[in-house]
Amino acid sequence: MRQDLISNLARTAPALRLLSAPADLEHYGRDWTRRWTPAPLAIALPATIDEVQAIARWASEYNVALVPSGGRTGLSGGAVAANSELVVSFERMNRMLDFNAVDRTLTVQPGIALEAVHKAAQEHGLIYPVDFGARGSCSIGGNIATNAGGIRVIRYGNTREWIAGLKLVTAKGDLLELNRGLIKNSSGYDLRHLVIGAEGTLGFVVEATLRLTDPPPSSQVMLFAVPAMAALMRVFDACRSRLTLSAFEFFTDRALHHVLAHGAQKPFAETSPYYVVTEFDAADQVQQQAALDVFEQCLKAGWVSDGVMSQSDAQAAALWRLRDGITESLAAHRPYKNDVSVRVSTVPEFLGEMQALLSREYPQFDVVWFGHIGDGNLHINVLKPVELGDADFLAQCERVTKLLADVLATHGGSISAEHGIGLVKKAYLASTRGAAEITLMRSLRAVFDPQGLMNPGKLFD
Ligand code: MLT
Ligand code: ZN
Repeated sequence: MRQDLISNLARTAPALRLLSAPADLEHYGRDWTRRWTPAPLAIALPATIDEVQAIARWASEYNVALVPSGGRTGLSGGAVAANSELVVSFERMNRMLDFNAVDRTLTVQPGIALEAVHKAAQEHGLIYPVDFGARGSCSIGGNIATNAGGIRVIRYGNTREWIAGLKLVTAKGDLLELNRGLIKNSSGYDLRHLVIGAEGTLGFVVEATLRLTDPPPSSQVMLFAVPAMAALMRVFDACRSRLTLSAFEFFTDRALHHVLAHGAQKPFAETSPYYVVTEFDAADQVQQQAALDVFEQCLKAGWVSDGVMSQSDAQAAALWRLRDGITESLAAHRPYKNDVSVRVSTVPEFLGEMQALLSREYPQFDVVWFGHIGDGNLHINVLKPVELGDADFLAQCERVTKLLADVLATHGGSISAEHGIGLVKKAYLASTRGAAEITLMRSLRAVFDPQGLMNPGKLFD
């Protein structure tokens, strides 16, 4: 049966590359979550939109589930294929198609890596400002599927703000051109924005037109040691009121401990419970002086106990490594990840409640906090003790996530700020979206994909 299906697909699209060796099924069937055992039917690597349409038509005829696949750096299981799905990898559709200097757009295929987009924009004297640690391996298609955020959201917003147009192949195999790169287009539902963040449930993004912008003035990076949680948002207010920020990130001493163990350079002689990394425009002496003034003000108020400001690109990169390197430094500890957000105004109250909850519920675990605090987005990584079995660890973390979801619901927060819902968070979707809203989401999905073949089981069942 399995071989018949694959042979049939090969006949339908004779040039389509197909893989079915066990190592390929394993490689393409998982993302960074590592929680599920990959078990896809096969892997298709289309090279053209026509081939993607042929795959969709074949899947519809034979009722085969499809899993779109980019860089598979996702942290919510959105790209996992564990139930005989055909994985559709966009690895071969990874080219730059067009740069338009007047529109300031770059049109790309979905499999292109974020870092390659950064480089291409730079070659034209512009930037694509969405950025985060997985830039070298993640793909634009995956960024669109999760409405990826990252470290520059505070200034530039999420992926959504930078998508001028999308081409989408629907579950039926139709090709839609959504928004066509227009700035102004008041002509009904903007399906482009439904597709962004849909985690591949509404169709395959096969082309994207990205907006570019001017590079910011030259910048500097400051690292602060912050002695108390209550001071974090005070430091944020002080920085924001005097400086033009492009990032404001925080991490705890436990995060620093792991990054240092992974080879980063110790920033201060004394340790501190919290740290802030901020990047800001520092094109002239006035801006640089303003940064020093902010540091003085925070020091005097007791909100920071130490600080360092980059004097070169190499120093800026070394300071950034302390934040950017956290995810990688934790990977070997098989962390359970929460990725939550609240409105920025609610952060101080929420932080206090969360700290109380986590120290009460996880007294025995190494719990590492970090994230995009200037956007109200916190990452909580709970590290698995070596002696604890996977299932026990997961059960304990899921129990606490339920409590966390209840706290989030009281603050109107989100159980997934930027990683997506995927398989990992779907049990908690109702803490963030109302019942009537979820019913509408289900209906929309059914309209786009009546047979339920596009990334089934992700987002909701
Ligand atoms: C990050 O901001 O580094 C990632 O989104 C968070 C994570 O690995 O949990
Ligand atoms: Zn993040």
